[in-house]
Amino acid sequence: MNFEYYTPTKVVFGKGTESRTGELVREQGGHRVLVHYGGGSAVRSGLLDRICESLKKEGLPYVTLGGVVPNPRLSKVREGIRICRSEGIDFLLAVGGGSVIDSAKAIGYGVANDGDVWDFYDRKRQAAGCLPVGAVLTIAAAGSEMSNSSVITNEDGWIKRGYNSDYCRCRFAVMNPELTCTLPDYQTQSGCVDIMMHTMERYFFKSGGMELTDGIGEALIRTVMRNARILKENPADYNARAEVMWAGSLSHNGLTGCGTDGGDWASHQIEHELGGMFDVAHGAGLAAVWGSWARYVYSENPTRFATFARRVFGLESGDEETTALAGIMEMEAFYRSVGMPTNLAELGIAPTEEQILEMAEKCCFYGRRTVGVLKALNQEDVAAIYRMAM
Ligand code: NZQ
Ligand code: ZN
Repeated sequence: MNFEYYTPTKVVFGKGTESRTGELVREQGGHRVLVHYGGGSAVRSGLLDRICESLKKEGLPYVTLGGVVPNPRLSKVREGIRICRSEGIDFLLAVGGGSVIDSAKAIGYGVANDGDVWDFYDRKRQAAGCLPVGAVLTIAAAGSEMSNSSVITNEDGWIKRGYNSDYCRCRFAVMNPELTCTLPDYQTQSGCVDIMMHTMERYFFKSGGMELTDGIGEALIRTVMRNARILKENPADYNARAEVMWAGSLSHNGLTGCGTDGGDWASHQIEHELGGMFDVAHGAGLAAVWGSWARYVYSENPTRFATFARRVFGLESGDEETTALAGIMEMEAFYRSVGMPTNLAELGIAPTEEQILEMAEKCCFYGRRTVGVLKALNQEDVAAIYRMAM
């Protein structure tokens, strides 16, 4: 199929690269910087100080705004917009993971456009620009450092919504794998699941496909699985950190979807409701629902699932259906082997029937949309998948 591939982000990868942050902001035309960060890991590790030093060295004035939480909140975005306007900020520097980068992107939309920033996430209108954003990545997971996406949670109704546009793509991404060594194991593994899922969502398409795109995706998934296991044993393994970090960016910058119809994405939509309602870690939430989604839809295209099983897990025997189901089981076995959940109970939540129906309604925009392309899922389907995942 025809495709567009647009990756304008300059990647600066490797040990010590965060010392170049000031120089990169200046290169991208920034004059007054908002340094945006999370709940404190960047402070405790000394990273924030090093970043601020690098800005000072370039003579760049800056204001700091921390406190971004996982599943980043709209209220923090609004606070950031107010600060940027009053301080005359012209560059947003996100120091953290997907949550911080997404919050910075949302602030960027809010400053560059009039009106309520939530309108974009609520599908009411399109943004006409975004303040430039740069990232210093501290967790390999969401891929926001190279994606066109930003996902924000509105506390009013606990609605988690993504908004995509090329305006928000990071101007640069500083990626030092060493910075990820302080991650708790659960976050490392949750990140690995998310990275794999960004390729798996694109792998299970309805139409199109290219041999090269398949090969890149399959290699990426195998690489992340191998290195996730290494990190389970040795969290300080630099090479494994580097493999996973680069995979995280390539998995969500469009590369693994070239020549396809864009992929399925139902698992992500189903998980976003869990994140909005129960505040779970995104990757862990994906692991908890993927197997149920896969069993619910695989019969739409058993050959594709069997191909996945053969090329990713080396499964040989059996007909298409048997191999497809064996592949789903293998993936769940991998999740369990790295301490990830394969159902909602293992994720630590027990939604009531009422909550399942509410999540299914929100996921399908109260009947206004279906999710997924392999099988277009309506509210009843989504509710059935939540029940299967219990
Ligand atoms: O807040 P701090 O103290 O930094 O702690 C964070 C947070 O608790 C911690 N952490 C990050 N780097 C660390 C560290 N702890 C120790 N050492 C470090 N080096 O990790 C926790 C999780 O951080 P978060 O930024 O939430 O992780 P992630 O990158 O997984 O981002 C998740 C968010 O991104 C969205 C998800 O829905 C979720 O809201 N996504 C964004 C996407 C995009 N923009 O393209 C695509 C994804 O599919 C995803 O939906
Ligand atoms: Zn994701």
